[in-house]
Amino acid sequence: MRGKVARVAAAAAAVAALVASIAFGASEGGELASANANINNTASLQRGAKYFVNYCLGCHSAQYVRYNKLAEGLKLTEDQLVQNLIFTDQQPFETMTNAMPREDAERWFGITPPDLSLISRARGQDYIYNFLQGFYFDPSKPTGANNVVLPNTAMPHVLWELQGIRRPIFEESEGEDGAPVISGFETVVPGLLTEEEFDQVARDIVNFLGYIGEPMQLERRSLGIRVIGFLLVFLLLAWMLKREIWKDVH
Ligand code: HEC
Repeated sequence: MRGKVARVAAAAAAVAALVASIAFGASEGGELASANANINNTASLQRGAKYFVNYCLGCHSAQYVRYNKLAEGLKLTEDQLVQNLIFTDQQPFETMTNAMPREDAERWFGITPPDLSLISRARGQDYIYNFLQGFYFDPSKPTGANNVVLPNTAMPHVLWELQGIRRPIFEESEGEDGAPVISGFETVVPGLLTEEEFDQVARDIVNFLGYIGEPMQLERRSLGIRVIGFLLVFLLLAWMLKREIWKDVH
């Protein structure tokens, strides 16, 4: 009896250790923090869309996204759409392209800023969240900025006014490859937003990018719930029918 209890306890401990290693393993060793995106949060998606057109669309397009389809998904009227999201002479039925010629972009940045329609699927939302949070001051770069998740990126720190400018604090010892290791940041120029407020901005943008990467998600989820609801009702009916049919047999 005692042996059995001990074995069960050992098995439980092993399972707990496994769960713990899965749960906490992800936060160790420079892994990505979670974006915690919630596609059912329409207010967050609306804010994300607004930040996107204000801070990203100048360089990046979202060529598979049509303004009027977006407004529909985000529950915006055509007036709200035109006033809040279309700053160019584009029409609501057009897609979210921008006017930056490719050659100019290449000349300025050395690389064309990628279209962001499907970036959430290509890179993952956690990556983009950490990328947006990862900019720091680096005077050796042409843009004056560097990034922890995409070192030597050509993208400038476009949200610096909101986040402020941060300088890296380096560890005493160097990493395995001899490169300096960043252990933290100190703010040298405060931004317009607090850390929490900026965090929300980054999450809203990532949420929006996740949505445009797969707009069907919303419909799929609500359809899924309705299908399960139907199956439950059907189950109840089938059970009542079975009871009715079998009631005289026993
Ligand atoms: C001034 C132009 C400019 C603006 C504005 C801009 N970007 Fe970029 N972005 C770039 C360039 C250039 C690259 C290519 C970077 C590279 O490959 O080093 C890039 C790359 C990216 C990438 C891909 C990173 C990767 O791993 O390949 C993402 C995601 C991204 N930008 C998101 C955004 C978001 C979100 C915004 C708005 C908040 C934004 N960008 C605003 C120029 C810009």
